[in-house]
Amino acid sequence: MAGIAPPSGGERGLWSLSDYARLDVATSARVWDYLAGGKTHYPADRLVGEQLLAVAPDMGGGAEANRAFLGRAVRMLASEGICQFLDVGTGMPAEPYLHEIARAVIPETRMIYMDHDPVVSMYGMALLRGYPARDTLCFTEDLREPERVLRECWLLDLDAPVGLLLGTVLDYCADTDNPAALVAELVEALAPGSYLVLSHGTGDFRALGATAAVEDIYQGAGITLRPRSRGEIQALIPPEMELLDPGVQMVHRWRPEDTKKSRVADAQVAVYGLVAYKP
Ligand SMILES: C[S@@+](CC[C@H](N)C(=O)[O-])C[C@H]1O[C@@H](n2cnc3c(N)ncnc32)[C@H](O)[C@@H]1O
Repeated sequence: MAGIAPPSGGERGLWSLSDYARLDVATSARVWDYLAGGKTHYPADRLVGEQLLAVAPDMGGGAEANRAFLGRAVRMLASEGICQFLDVGTGMPAEPYLHEIARAVIPETRMIYMDHDPVVSMYGMALLRGYPARDTLCFTEDLREPERVLRECWLLDLDAPVGLLLGTVLDYCADTDNPAALVAELVEALAPGSYLVLSHGTGDFRALGATAAVEDIYQGAGITLRPRSRGEIQALIPPEMELLDPGVQMVHRWRPEDTKKSRVADAQVAVYGLVAYKP
């Protein structure tokens, strides 16, 4: 891998299909899968994952707690009657699958999974072929092109409430991508009664210098990562939305079901989560 430059994505920072298919290049989805203890990663991803864990051992614990948070939030939304979801920045498929969590409450739930990494969509579609997964689709789109994301939502009725899931994906948007504007554009397209579920990595609990080291490691692999503070994450919520209790909270302490897990130190999780409602 040494000496081979990762793709830059050119002026718009968008990688091509062949960039994602390269085995010698780490991708954010597969690095995250490695950190989360998943099975879908290559040597290039593991190398970056090990470098990250050396400077920020919390990066593993956050993935599991974040997944559990997304599951709780989806179950809560489903119990509020939400039966259509858009999950942008899906990541490599990992159990428990969010569409199954939602369908356990409302069986006819429709779910769109979207990721900028075509390998993620390929794995997702292959997985969905294995069992009846009516009304669940995977698409390849970039969050930084919200109009394209919305165009792919033909499976959903955008005149009815939707659960928009942005699980640790805005972390990969630089400030110059204007992540608050991206969220606002997506939320704007949703009907009143919709919800936003957002989680985001933070450096708030890391030793001084560790966050910069994490960003440098990702940068060296051609991936932008921008951990944000609690205040910066709160500022991503469109002003017209109502933040549900307990507000912007560490994911393991957001309405925990397992109180033992909620006692883990914040530094071991380092991901904030929130749910907001569009009145
Ligand atoms: C850290 S993983 C999160 C996976 C899952 N949402 C979760 O919270 O467990 C981030 C995912 O976002 C995807 N991603 C990163 N930047 C993206 C972008 N600009 N548009 C769409 N997906 C993106 C990556 O490919 C990766 O699969």
